[in-house]
Amino acid sequence: MNIATQPDDAQQAHPIVYLKDYQQPTYLVESVSLNISIFSNGTLVNSSLVMKRQAGASLGELVLLGRDLELLEVCVNGQELRPDQYRLDRESLTIFGAPDQCVVDTQVRIHPESNTQLEGLYQAGELFVTQNEPEGFRKITFFPDRPDVLSVFTTRIEADKKYPTLLANGNLIEAGDASDGRHYAIWQDPTKKPSYLFACVVGDLAVLKDSYTTIEGREVSLELYTEAKDLDKCHVGMQALKDSMHWDEQEYGRAYDLDNYMIVAVSQFNMGAMENKGLNIFNTACVLSDPQTTTDPSNFYVKSTIAHEYFHNWTGNRITCRDWFQLCLKEGFTVFRDQSFSETLQSPAVQRIDDVASLKSAQFAEDAGPMSHPPRPDQFVEINNFYTATVYDKGAEIARMIATLLGKQKFRQGTDEYFRRHDGEAVTVEDLLNSLSDGSGVDVRHFLPWYTQAGTPTVTGQGEYDAATQTYRLSLRQSVKPHAKYPNPKPLPIPVSTALFDRATGQVLAEQMLLLDQPEQQFVFEHIAVEPVVSLLRDFSAPVLLDFAYTDHDLAFLVQYETNGFNQWQAAQELLERVLLKGHDAEPYLQAIAQTVPSLAARDALLTARLLDVPSENYLASRIDQDYEPSEMHQRREALLNALAKRLAEYWPTAYADQPIVPYVDSSEAMGRRAWRNVVLSMAFRAGLPEAVQWASEQYQAAVCMTERLGALRALVWNDAAGAAELSVQLLADFEQCFSDEALAIDLWFSVQSGKPTVTVAEIQALLQHPRFDYTTPNRVRSVTSHFAQNPLAVWTVEGVQFYADLTKHLDAKNPVLASRILQALSRWYTLKAPLREQVKAVLKALQQDVSSSSVTETLGNLLQAE
Ligand code: PHE
Ligand code: ZN
Repeated sequence: MNIATQPDDAQQAHPIVYLKDYQQPTYLVESVSLNISIFSNGTLVNSSLVMKRQAGASLGELVLLGRDLELLEVCVNGQELRPDQYRLDRESLTIFGAPDQCVVDTQVRIHPESNTQLEGLYQAGELFVTQNEPEGFRKITFFPDRPDVLSVFTTRIEADKKYPTLLANGNLIEAGDASDGRHYAIWQDPTKKPSYLFACVVGDLAVLKDSYTTIEGREVSLELYTEAKDLDKCHVGMQALKDSMHWDEQEYGRAYDLDNYMIVAVSQFNMGAMENKGLNIFNTACVLSDPQTTTDPSNFYVKSTIAHEYFHNWTGNRITCRDWFQLCLKEGFTVFRDQSFSETLQSPAVQRIDDVASLKSAQFAEDAGPMSHPPRPDQFVEINNFYTATVYDKGAEIARMIATLLGKQKFRQGTDEYFRRHDGEAVTVEDLLNSLSDGSGVDVRHFLPWYTQAGTPTVTGQGEYDAATQTYRLSLRQSVKPHAKYPNPKPLPIPVSTALFDRATGQVLAEQMLLLDQPEQQFVFEHIAVEPVVSLLRDFSAPVLLDFAYTDHDLAFLVQYETNGFNQWQAAQELLERVLLKGHDAEPYLQAIAQTVPSLAARDALLTARLLDVPSENYLASRIDQDYEPSEMHQRREALLNALAKRLAEYWPTAYADQPIVPYVDSSEAMGRRAWRNVVLSMAFRAGLPEAVQWASEQYQAAVCMTERLGALRALVWNDAAGAAELSVQLLADFEQCFSDEALAIDLWFSVQSGKPTVTVAEIQALLQHPRFDYTTPNRVRSVTSHFAQNPLAVWTVEGVQFYADLTKHLDAKNPVLASRILQALSRWYTLKAPLREQVKAVLKALQQDVSSSSVTETLGNLLQAE
């Protein structure tokens, strides 16, 4: 008997993996038979791999990857190996002199019952589930665990009968009793897949069933598994699944290929959800939806996450990634697909606003700091650190730019070609660009540098009107900050969707999609009879920073007259950035908003709610490269918000009265009214309206759904209004008691407190001591950390940073993926003003001694390199 791995040795360096070192797998696995037998004190995994040396691959031994596995037996072609016939180390099992074709059998023992990292097979309460992307499968059994090894899987699962639910990918082909009062099920997945898409689930779950008939006539059984008490929270997800299946048939001509589609809800999950073939596993937060316990944004997020995972069946599963450097091949494209689907669920303008707001606050900020990397990086230490906003959201923007330039029909011809050419293969970003080019007849290969270069490009420019010739000349220039690991950036193709407006009438004079693909270019518009106001990057046609010589007056004009709802919002954001970052006068912004809001609210409450967005403190901080002072920025932003609230002080009572509470409806329109009512309520607090406390208290009591209840509670807790302190405490207690059995609602309860703008580090620490706090449930940990992170005022203190360091240290071994993500909140420490900057550096340096996981080590190393 051997122990395959030793605990991570802090001294041992974590090696860098390079894209340029990619080599084809030496051996392929034609088929796998797994036998997984679960016991309370350990799980036995027998695997039988039918292996074949790959023609053309480099010569080499047969190597299987494995981590934290207790190897009990290894056989080749039925013969148990002697110790001198193989070598076992921390990460792999090498079999010497294996034949070119052979069957390798192994037996290992693993411990899901003590697996807190939530990778491989782990136990969450009374549920056993797997998470194998990217490299979890090697924690279940020895295997060439890489995405370019595709195999047919047969899985036998055996467990005690107290776990009636036994699921794996594919079709159930047999089930029955086993010895000792146990039972088993055998599943077979007919399509070849990489090991990261393998899944199994063992537990006692209730199921919601439905069905869908594909456009090809296949009858698909749809099953959503969850704890019995949550079964009625599954209807939204089920409907979204059917809508997604239909959408992919209509928009991309893609139908589902198996007889069943299963989704399992798990409360302990590191990410949102996972697209395992035919057996998705979802974080409860991304699949359960119910007006009483979850909010409108999460209801919306459930629908788009269901769509995302479903769309992966074609973009990810049937066509997968050759290696993990290509992650954005599946993620970027699939995010673009789920965003497009979501546009059918709410107004396209608001969908775009939401996607761009998160792109700017997460991806632009990431690209401005030490974690900056291209959507397709060419080196990494820990692939888990690359499930980033850059890979997902910038990746989606690249797919969107190509789709925009090609137009609907040609883009469809391009994707048809991609699916035709590569179905069943593991491919690269170049393969995607080749297919899109060949299928559409338009060469889009010059988009490759978008995938391979880091940093957010800036487009700078100005316009010039010549009345004599009636021409408007637009000069644009592109640039990007050099990146140490990715030097010498090439100019990128940047689509700039442009409109010219008549400033007297608000009429559109010209509309055009420009392509800036040189370092510097001029575009001339003719027959322009009056000096126009130009609107650039409509619908955010490219993921760039724009530094255009607008006057504040032009921007205010666009807030009022742009017909593109997204650019209306964008003009307001640009004005705000000028006020908050460059000290411009707030008056043009305030005036434009005051003139626009009342009439817009009557037409489109959802868009109005978004129009009052003010860039987050973290986004603003990402634009400040040195001597950042959190309190100064905080005060400026607060002052602006207060001025806005006061400017419309007389309007808020009417606005609030216009939105009475009505029975719950799940529609974009109703969601807009609820969002707008909550914005108005918090504005009423800021404006110091005496009725605000009363409104909030009544809204809390009369609420028919969580969005209303939480909006009221948040307004009270966050606004420190005179006379509201006692009420806040009372309603927080009421909320906790009402929803004590609803984990997702309790997460909201934590988030209201951790996100309070005046929260102190001591209060955050007290939340961690609360009996309902739980380090083993990532949702609960994040309910405190991710909302606290929105509050730089408290984070950027010696105590705040020490809090992060302590938490990182605590989670480093228990859940390194979670720890590493939490730590990234400190990415921009080096922009702080002295002496805080040096104090933070000392804390981070000291932390280096206390952590050893590859995830945290890599992140901390990146952080400390930034200076
Ligand atoms: N592949 C998943 C998705 O984006 C995300 C994920 C990555 C989940 C790694 C778990 C672990 O749909
Ligand atoms: Zn995905």
